[in-house]
Amino acid sequence: MIKVYEKMEGYCQQFQQYWKQWKENTPLFWIQLKFQWFNFKEYLKVIFFYYRNLSFLKSDTLLLLSYLFQNPYRMNKEFLKKRGEEVVDVYGETPLTTFEEIVSKCQITPKDNFYELGAGRGRTCFWLHSFIGCKVIGLEIIPQFVTIANQIVEKKHLKNIHFENVNFLNYDCKDATVIYLYGICLKDEDLVQLIQQLKKLPQGTKFITISFPLTEYTQEPLFEVTSCFQGRFPWGIADVYLQYRK
Ligand SMILES: C[S@@+](CC[C@H](N)C(=O)[O-])C[C@H]1O[C@@H](n2cnc3c(N)ncnc32)[C@H](O)[C@@H]1O
Repeated sequence: MIKVYEKMEGYCQQFQQYWKQWKENTPLFWIQLKFQWFNFKEYLKVIFFYYRNLSFLKSDTLLLLSYLFQNPYRMNKEFLKKRGEEVVDVYGETPLTTFEEIVSKCQITPKDNFYELGAGRGRTCFWLHSFIGCKVIGLEIIPQFVTIANQIVEKKHLKNIHFENVNFLNYDCKDATVIYLYGICLKDEDLVQLIQQLKKLPQGTKFITISFPLTEYTQEPLFEVTSCFQGRFPWGIADVYLQYRK
């Protein structure tokens, strides 16, 4: 009788352990599923709405093929690990449908000089170049991203778009009319340093930032936030800020 009781107790403990593990892992599972579902729907929209543009179809297909056997998330993680950073899971891309909304609400035109600070693989830059036709410069710290993006530019003989392997914190975007920054995991001190660069730009320069306005990182009256709207990202809804250099 005692043996049966001990066995039952053992099963109960095992069941409790499985239940605890399941409860701990379930939220992660749902988050992953939501993330994959979002990406799947987004990709269908990209094929349906954007692949009619031949220039974009070509550059996006080349991008896709270039990253078939190398994952940009992992490449970014490895780069940050080598640099000794503590937070390394920070890579993300602006969904193109969200980017289209941002471009339309911020009224980016073919006359603009658009700089993307931290361009990643350069997908948004290629989209903008194909759909709006303005001058596009992507600044990116990870050399492989820049090499691949510039190879696509060369292969497709694209004009008015290029990528530079630089640290945007020390870079002077002197002819910029629009600056886009999706860098939600930048350190506060980096943003303070970046503002020292951005304040050199002339009055009227547009800045688009995701999740925070530049005014949060300076006491000086340098920027005026003119609008704030919401944009959809795989991880949820974010505030998009449009501000001008005063
Ligand atoms: C969150 S991803 C955004 C990618 C792209 N802008 C988009 O919206 O799809 C941020 C990118 O910024 C790059 N980055 C971060 N700090 C940087 C710096 N100081 N200079 C240049 N690039 C940087 C990272 O390597 C990463 O590729």
